[in-house]
Amino acid sequence: MVSYSNYSYEPSLSRRESAGKRGIEDFPVTEVVVAKLREMADDVEWLRNRLLNKDVTSQVINTSFFTYKEYLERESVDLIVTSPPYLNNYHYNRNTRPHLYWLGFVEGPKDMRPLEQNNFGKFWQTVRDLDLLDLGFSLPNTDLEECLQALRKLNPEKKVYGGNGWANYAAAYFNDCFKFAQGIEYALTPGGTALVVIGNSILQGILIPTDYYFAKIAESIGLELVEIHVPRTNRVGNSIIKSNVRVAKAKKSHHLYEAVVEIKKC
Ligand SMILES: C[S@@+](CC[C@H](N)C(=O)[O-])C[C@H]1O[C@@H](n2cnc3c(N)ncnc32)[C@H](O)[C@@H]1O
Repeated sequence: MVSYSNYSYEPSLSRRESAGKRGIEDFPVTEVVVAKLREMADDVEWLRNRLLNKDVTSQVINTSFFTYKEYLERESVDLIVTSPPYLNNYHYNRNTRPHLYWLGFVEGPKDMRPLEQNNFGKFWQTVRDLDLLDLGFSLPNTDLEECLQALRKLNPEKKVYGGNGWANYAAAYFNDCFKFAQGIEYALTPGGTALVVIGNSILQGILIPTDYYFAKIAESIGLELVEIHVPRTNRVGNSIIKSNVRVAKAKKSHHLYEAVVEIKKC
């Protein structure tokens, strides 16, 4: 719906007018909505046909993943398919504001705060001016700590826009990756599988292989890494890369990709 509203992704949500685009005065909204509803109905029917005669129930739990213990028994999940936020400072709450209001999940700015606080990873804007936000765990046999230290030392003259702020942001992200891996370990049945879609990242020109570090974090708490699949390279839409100063810094040899980290609990 944003595509035919007077908002636009630039890549962050802003008014079309502020981005120099002409306003949309009229649009066949009903046709688009009806076509989408038909598509959704087809999907529901597709699924129903495959589940015929099977005793299946489903439940949507509208809360943060980090509250999993309130809803899941230990070792009760055979398969987890999921995709946490990437390390790209994509501001889900800000960018999905229209959806949140339209769907009645928020009524005013104060309702946004819990979403921001419970988000997987912190938003860079909220940690960039902290003196030091560090990893809360250690990951032996990897260079994660060195990588964050190198990032921390970059561009001190840029103050909060320099490496230290991005290192704080990355450390907070990996701290949540650690909690996330613990949740996976808690929930999976022995022999169960988790498929975690995660994209790598480039911060201040430094390549951060989040998929690899996440896999190592999972291994460090006793999960087994089966494989890191890379079905898609040259990812698009990374808000960090798109913003002017950082483009020049991202080395040509670095590329963005999306990986599926396949993890098993023995
Ligand atoms: C990479 S996207 C995955 C989107 C998903 N594959 C889909 O098609 O909707 C990450 C999603 O995680 C959500 N998210 C962020 N923090 C979360 C949390 N603590 N618990 C559950 N979901 C969270 C974001 O709002 C975003 O929708």
